Amino acid sequence: MQKFVLHKGKILKNTRVSQDTYFLSFLSNIKFLPTEFVLIDTFPTKFLLKPFSIAVNDNNSVGIIYRVVGEGTKFISQKIVGEEIYYLGPLGNTYKFNEIVNSLRRNDLILLVAGGSGVASLVYLYKYFTRLGKKVKMFYGETTKTKIINLATFGIKNVVYTTDDGSFGIRGSVLEAVCEYFDNFSSISSITTFVCGPKSMLSRLKEIIETKLKNVFNINCYALLEEYMCCGVGVCRSCVVKVKKENTWEYKTVCKDGPLFSLSEVIF
Ligand SMILES: Cc1cc2nc3c(=O)[nH]c(=O)nc-3n(C[C@H](O)[C@H](O)[C@H](O)COP(=O)(O)OP(=O)(O)OC[C@H]3O[C@@H](n4cnc5c(N)ncnc54)[C@H](O)[C@@H]3O)c2cc1C
Ligand code: FES
Repeated sequence: MQKFVLHKGKILKNTRVSQDTYFLSFLSNIKFLPTEFVLIDTFPTKFLLKPFSIAVNDNNSVGIIYRVVGEGTKFISQKIVGEEIYYLGPLGNTYKFNEIVNSLRRNDLILLVAGGSGVASLVYLYKYFTRLGKKVKMFYGETTKTKIINLATFGIKNVVYTTDDGSFGIRGSVLEAVCEYFDNFSSISSITTFVCGPKSMLSRLKEIIETKLKNVFNINCYALLEEYMCCGVGVCRSCVVKVKKENTWEYKTVCKDGPLFSLSEVIF
């Protein structure tokens, strides 16, 4: 199967897009769907391959947006154009994504909510849904201006930026901006939300939806989860999360069952 084969791709671009974040693109004729991811080989720096969401997928290339947080991502940032990178993919379960796409109605609004490097996982969703003719709105928060990625360079226009310190966009957390948006929102269309960011942010959004928004709006929210990964294909169980099952819960793997989950079923 394609997902168990280590692919090789010549690097086309590896450029800085904010203080600590880069855009890497490489030659690949593999077709990816939004929410799918790749595992990139950073050996010998790191033994395990590193997971990254697909941000861009053209006819002959794939692009990821990655934040340098440790040795593996530093290794990738030092790669130069023309060098090869090795990766596994496409990985991830697209069943739920396809189900969402098929159930969308004409006037449904797509809301994308990104915290920090979680924005990387939402860029492809924006492109995909705008191409389908959907109205898409994005909220993107960082701690400070130097961390902000200018999403216009990825063709994303309808963005509300926030920073915790107010150095760019609206001052405060991205969820405060989302709540304010809903305070003034009067449309009767259904809202399909995708969120990616730190666990504390996902858990707070879940609370806001359950206590405030769900009573007023027809809103479904899906989270793209990130966990430490080892095998990437559902075997080692290193990436499990707790998910509701009837009156109890079960473990699901982010790599094989996810990374897309209904936010309401995730137990933080
Ligand atoms: C499905 C999936 C998709 C992802 N997509 C992207 C992406 O598109 N762009 C991007 O920048 N990052 C993404 N990540 C996170 C990325 O994989 C990690 O940042 C990367 O593996 C760190 O490797 P490292 O060797 O540089 O750092 P490490 O030495 O492994 O870790 C450095 C620091 O980062 C934290 N960290 C590392 N991995 C994770 C994780 N999975 N969850 C929470 N904290 C972590 C550690 O706590 C540590 O503090 C994704 C993760 C998953 C599971
Ligand atoms: S990384 Fe091995 S089961 Fe998910």
